[in-house]
Amino acid sequence: MHYFFITGSSKGLGKALTELLLSDKNNFVYGISRTNTIYHQQFQHLKLDLADLDAVKQFQFSELKDATAITLINNAGIVGDIKHLGNLDAKKIISTYNINLVAPTLLINQFFNTYNNKIQKLVVNISSGAGRSPIDGWSVYCASKAGLDMLSLVFKTELEHNNINTNIISLAPGIIDTSMQDEIRKADKTNFSNIERFIEYKNNGDLSNPKETAKQVYAFIFNQKLHHKTICSVRDLA
Ligand SMILES: NC(=O)c1ccc[n+]([C@@H]2O[C@H](COP(=O)([O-])OP(=O)(O)OC[C@H]3O[C@@H](n4cnc5c(N)ncnc54)[C@H](OP(=O)(O)O)[C@@H]3O)[C@@H](O)[C@H]2O)c1
Repeated sequence: MHYFFITGSSKGLGKALTELLLSDKNNFVYGISRTNTIYHQQFQHLKLDLADLDAVKQFQFSELKDATAITLINNAGIVGDIKHLGNLDAKKIISTYNINLVAPTLLINQFFNTYNNKIQKLVVNISSGAGRSPIDGWSVYCASKAGLDMLSLVFKTELEHNNINTNIISLAPGIIDTSMQDEIRKADKTNFSNIERFIEYKNNGDLSNPKETAKQVYAFIFNQKLHHKTICSVRDLA
């Protein structure tokens, strides 16, 4: 059995990817989120608030005796407060970093502590183009995704020193028609100069459907040739 742990399985990209994985009876998916929307015999929901670091620290990965491969997908993420620095809410700064960067770091650490065996393992961090070029109003989101990219690069160098059969990628999924984009379009123009561009993406039909993006992420998971480049994008498939 190929086991998957996917954060943010309840909606958007994470839900579409979970549903795609469940179409193969050789896959079993543990979905990690605050709410559950998926009911399937090869699926188990694990309720966890990734902003609650004490709960994340206590999260335990299951013992998987019949595993042939284990994949962790850090997909959950929030855009956070869309405001310029100076106007940000302190609590939202902290919760955005916790969900987007601190929780994935804790989960990766726990994942490799638990599965310190020779089974084939992959970590897919869902990053963003926003972690690779700055967008005003998105400082914490951009910084957290840049942090996820660097975390992935460092881990890759560590794996090269002491582990085989394991890989990590940090994958930018493109712009997807999910509730995150709804939230972005509701931002205040004075705190986000690019808002018109994001409204146009929606109006022009430029946003990708989550099911289409899930197919692209799926291609990255199952094609090992795509794992050699740690910092990657679904655009690399073109
Ligand atoms: N949409 C885009 O255009 C776009 C572009 C680039 C990158 N991305 C990245 O793609 C990933 C998925 O985004 P999306 O657009 O699919 O977002 P989405 O539709 O808003 O879904 C976010 C998911 O994250 C979970 N989540 C949020 N806060 C959580 C918390 N405190 N604890 C546990 N789970 C939490 C949500 O589950 P619950 O609410 O049930 O907890 C939900 O399943 C994110 O990492 C995002 O940064 C998205």
